[in-house]
Amino acid sequence: MINIAVFASGNGSNAENIITHFSGSDIASVRLVISNKTDAYVLERAKAKGVPSIVVPKEQLTCGNPTDLIEILRHHRIDYIILAGYLLRIPAALTENYKGKIINIHPALLPKFGGKGMYGMHVHKAVIDAQERESGITVHLADAVYDNGKILFQATCPVMPGDTPEQLAAKVQDLEQLHFPTIIEKYITGELK
Ligand code: GRF
Repeated sequence: MINIAVFASGNGSNAENIITHFSGSDIASVRLVISNKTDAYVLERAKAKGVPSIVVPKEQLTCGNPTDLIEILRHHRIDYIILAGYLLRIPAALTENYKGKIINIHPALLPKFGGKGMYGMHVHKAVIDAQERESGITVHLADAVYDNGKILFQATCPVMPGDTPEQLAAKVQDLEQLHFPTIIEKYITGELK
């Protein structure tokens, strides 16, 4: 059995979708949800699904000892980390310990519209302002640099004239719900390299 930890900072619709996808699976299971926010809705979702969660605040990541987090992950025998709307940079100690085993989803077509500050509605607004004709999702391996790392998968959706950031976000979220868990499964089973 492959053990997964999902890191999320906010709503957690992707986290919940991943938990649901693997519940009852004999391949993998979501063992832990980690959030940096005590009031993140993802914690409610994890509780409702019976998945343990831990809050690791930003200060603990940046000023504290990152090995504490690594200890937590080791204790839960975590093999893969999924970043699903996790807004903090991952400490280098973690990316070194989990090389090739941290997967992020970005709500646009990297390498465009990535990097610091490019999250949530900022991304969709930037895509619309740049008059792009398409956007989408990028699933990629994460390293210590924001939105860097090998691209595993992209899917696109059209950006129509007059689309609001909210309308574009809804199209991108549909793609996330449709593809993210399957891509994770394909990668962790070695089908996708
Ligand atoms: C998603 O759009 C994801 O692509 C981005 O953050 C958002 C998280 O949404 N990285 P949710 O918390 O999973 O609902």
